[in-house]
Amino acid sequence: MEVDLLIYGAAQVLTVASPHGPKRGPAMRDLGAIPGGAVAVHQGRVLDVGPSDRLCRQWEAAQTIDAQGGLILPGFVDPHTHLVWAGDRADEFEMRIAGASYQEIMAAGGGIMRTVHQTRAASLDELVSQTRGRLDRMLAHGTTTVEIKTGYGLDTREELKLLEAIRRLQAESPVTLVPTFLGAHAVPAEYHGRADEYVDLVVEEMLPAVVRDCQAQNQEGSLPFCDVFCEDGAFSVEQSRRILEAAQALGFRLKIHADEFKPLGGTRLAVELGATSADHLVHTPPDEIEQLARSETIAVALPGTPFGLGHRAYTPARAIIDAGGSLALATDCNPGTCWCETMQLMIALACRYMRMTPAEAISAATINAAYAVGLGHQVGSLEPGKRADLILLDVPSPAHLAYRFGTNLVRMVVVGGRVFEVQ
Ligand code: NIG
Ligand code: FE
Repeated sequence: MEVDLLIYGAAQVLTVASPHGPKRGPAMRDLGAIPGGAVAVHQGRVLDVGPSDRLCRQWEAAQTIDAQGGLILPGFVDPHTHLVWAGDRADEFEMRIAGASYQEIMAAGGGIMRTVHQTRAASLDELVSQTRGRLDRMLAHGTTTVEIKTGYGLDTREELKLLEAIRRLQAESPVTLVPTFLGAHAVPAEYHGRADEYVDLVVEEMLPAVVRDCQAQNQEGSLPFCDVFCEDGAFSVEQSRRILEAAQALGFRLKIHADEFKPLGGTRLAVELGATSADHLVHTPPDEIEQLARSETIAVALPGTPFGLGHRAYTPARAIIDAGGSLALATDCNPGTCWCETMQLMIALACRYMRMTPAEAISAATINAAYAVGLGHQVGSLEPGKRADLILLDVPSPAHLAYRFGTNLVRMVVVGGRVFEVQ
């Protein structure tokens, strides 16, 4: 039998295999490395992974690629982004480095609401074209699956516009996009002082509208995730609970922004509701870390966010992993706290500021991130039958991926079996 593609001659192929669920605790250090490895791809899927000499003997291929001693690993999965927005907030960045805090800027009407105004003013076409460049940069940096949140519309029509923008981008991009409804990203200015009424709107109007919208698009069974920004100045734990319980009753799977600036109890809520992931977790207290580590909920750490804000506190990844938890990494790509498209920098930051090993960070950026967006059985590792999403890096070992930073180490990206040369 002739296969479509055979890539051979890697220094190592990291399979990051984890067939029975996300990697937890010490298992995150096992990358399933195959020295001198090769990957055979057929009809968009991984067919075989193993030593180059065996695969080259076993498979004839329509296309062969010599990896020339590079590193092959699964394409990165970025499980937390706010990629669809219009405009920028470079002026707020300048205010922050001059001493203003993110929350002061938000309380003064800037922050998320600034981007909401710019996003509402943009047409669907403008929004898609502004987002396209960011998505292309993600692919060039090795990301093959991206979760994208709404949350810059904050009324029913505008939130549906953002979901439509994600669908349009999916129609043109080889990257797998996973939508998340984040209607509760901020209390919009027109509801100032009436947060509970805005929560009513989310529960009574927006969530059902999203369900109808998905059904109209023939996407029954594949509702987006539902997320809430649980934070002082955004939504309280009780408001978050109302929204997430209503979403769960409609069939949404859940995510939450918890403990980014203050510990409110959002992580405990995520565990109680069986959320797929709890994200940020910079200030999560030890007892909630213990609960999280014992649960099925995946911790998503976003080290680009404290870095982008110039803060010193990072997610206590060491404590989460050492307690046996499952942790993923993401960029949080957004115009306020972290405009960064590359998972490579997240790995570099995680190893420095969160004391993760390179192997743990790679597991967190691939297989665990795939489980954090509900696609752990389809992407995130190089195992036969999985989608052929993989990257070839110009480095000899996993440690280089953390050790080096600030340049793109990806030479080639394969997405669903399609080859994209990067340099
Ligand atoms: O994850 N925390 C809320 N959302 C983003 C920031 C969004 C923005 O500032 O536009 C975050 O950090
Ligand atoms: Fe976020």
